[in-house]
Parts: sequence; C-alpha cells; structure tokens
Amino acid sequence: MCAPSIVFVALATVGFVNAQGSLASWHPAGPGDSRGPCPMLNTLANHGFLPREGRNFTLPIVKHALGTGLNVSDDITEELFNFALTTNPAPNATTWGLDTLGNHNILEHDASLRSVLILSTPYTEFALPFGSRSDKYFTDDAVTFNSTVYDQTRAYWTGDLIDIQMAANARLARMIDSVKYNPRFALSELAGEFSAGEGAGYMLVFGNRTEKTARRDLVEYFFKNERLPTELGWKIPTTVISLDDLNNFSEYIINATSIEAL
Ligand code: HEM
Ligand code: MG
Repeated sequence: MCAPSIVFVALATVGFVNAQGSLASWHPAGPGDSRGPCPMLNTLANHGFLPREGRNFTLPIVKHALGTGLNVSDDITEELFNFALTTNPAPNATTWGLDTLGNHNILEHDASLRSVLILSTPYTEFALPFGSRSDKYFTDDAVTFNSTVYDQTRAYWTGDLIDIQMAANARLARMIDSVKYNPRFALSELAGEFSAGEGAGYMLVFGNRTEKTARRDLVEYFFKNERLPTELGWKIPTTVISLDDLNNFSEYIINATSIEAL
C-alpha cells in the first residue's frame, strides 16, 4: 500500500515546482496579486519564479528568480535589489515588492520604457519611459502597460531584428516626448543610465550577444503578455548574463544616442 506516499510525493513535487516557478506554469495575476512598473519582474511573478502575490521579496528570492528564469548573475541582482530597497518606506527594510516599486521617482521614472531609475534628489513629478508606461504627470497610473506609449516605442523597432540603434532611438523618442509634453519631466543622470539598462535588459534576454540584436517578435510578445516567449522558441540563455554584459550593452545604447546629455 504505497499509493498514499506516492500521491504525497507527487503533490509535494507539484507544490515545489509551483513555489519555485517554471516556464510552463505561467498564468496572469489573480485577485489581490500585486504587479508593478517592471515588465520583467511582473513576468517572473506570472511564471511563479517570483512569489505570485508580488510582495515581500527577499534577496534569495530575487536571486533565485532572475538566476533560474533568465540566467542573470547574482551581482546584477544584488545591485538592483539594493536600489529597489529604497522604494520600501519602512525603516531598515530588507524586502520590497511589486507593490512598492511604483513609488514615483524613486525607481519608477518618467519617459518610461519602464526603467530602473534612481534619483539623486527627492522629487515630485518625473517619468522616464522606455516605452510601455505613461509618465506620472499624465495619469495616476504610470505603472501598468499603456498601449499608446508602447506603440510609440515599437514604431522605432523597424526590423525583424532590433539592433542597438533601434533600441537607442526608441528610448530617445520617449525622452523627447516627455521633454516636449510633460512640463514636470525630470530625469537624473542615474535614471538615464538605468533607462539604458532597461534597453540592455531586453536586448540581452531576448537577443544574440555577438550580433547585438534581439528578435522583435520575442520582445513584443514579452511586453504585451508579460510572459516568457517559449511558444515562439525562446529559451533561457545558456550563458550567464553578467554585470559586464549589462554595462556594455547600456553603453552601446548610450553611445548610439545622438543627444549626448541623454
Ligand atoms: C522597468 C525595476 C529587473 C527590464 C523597470 C522599472 C523599475 C524596474 C522600477 C520602472 C521604471 C520606469 O518608471 O520606467 C527592476 C528591478 C529589477 C529589474 C528592481 C531586478 C531586481 C529587470 C530585468 C529586465 C528588466 C532582469 C530584463 C529584461 C525592464 C524594462 C523596463 C523596466 C524593459 C522598461 C519598461 C517600460 O518602460 O516599458 N524595472 N527591474 N528589468 N525593466 Fe526592470
Ligand atoms: Mg515611469
């Protein structure tokens, strides 16, 4: 009579997989789950690599999620984790979540291609779009996917393969738009670097590091669905995404941007 223990083992295995996430176990946020301005963290929560409720992330939890789901190195995660801690207003906080990330002008910024933004001075109304969220000035919701903003970004991805120049153009276009129409637009130097990092992020996760291109269909699927594009043939990168990769690709994007100040 070993059936009950087999059932138990089977259930425990399913439970373990659900708790740790997998490419196959994607489903959208349920009632009460929190999602934020970062499409990739939302995606990892939708797969269960991050806790689906979207709250109270510790460093080991985030290392597991970015490491297992994307093959992102622990030093990148540590750096981003520590920036994100500043979005938790609790004194001496050791956790943050998708519910705290959108606290405006800490990491969430204007000109959203939703980048990680760090402001050196406390501030009021600012936004940086990478390309799929509105500036805070225009709306109470600078956190949720906004198809008008996103359509503007994707218009600059003019080939089947997104190259560095297209990524730079998309980022610059969102910034110019914010400068033109958002009278309270602000972007610190650090925030600008972080927005380049967002571009680097999608190029690295969905791209070919040697060719410096990313498949547009994969990038678009990810932004629209907040889901990893396995059904289009995407696989978790087999080579770790290192801090050097992130810094190099951010620099390529900044160097391809014709306005030096941005
Ligand atoms: C946007 C945080 C990891 C890709 C953002 C934003 C935040 C954020 C706060 C919103 C910025 C804004 O207002 O525009 C984080 C943190 C991470 C992380 C704390 C890790 C602990 C990643 C990774 C990727 C990524 C691994 C890889 C693809 C993006 C992109 C945007 C973004 C593409 C721009 C979205 C848009 O404006 O359309 N992230 N992020 N992030 N993040 Fe992340
Ligand atoms: Mg924003």
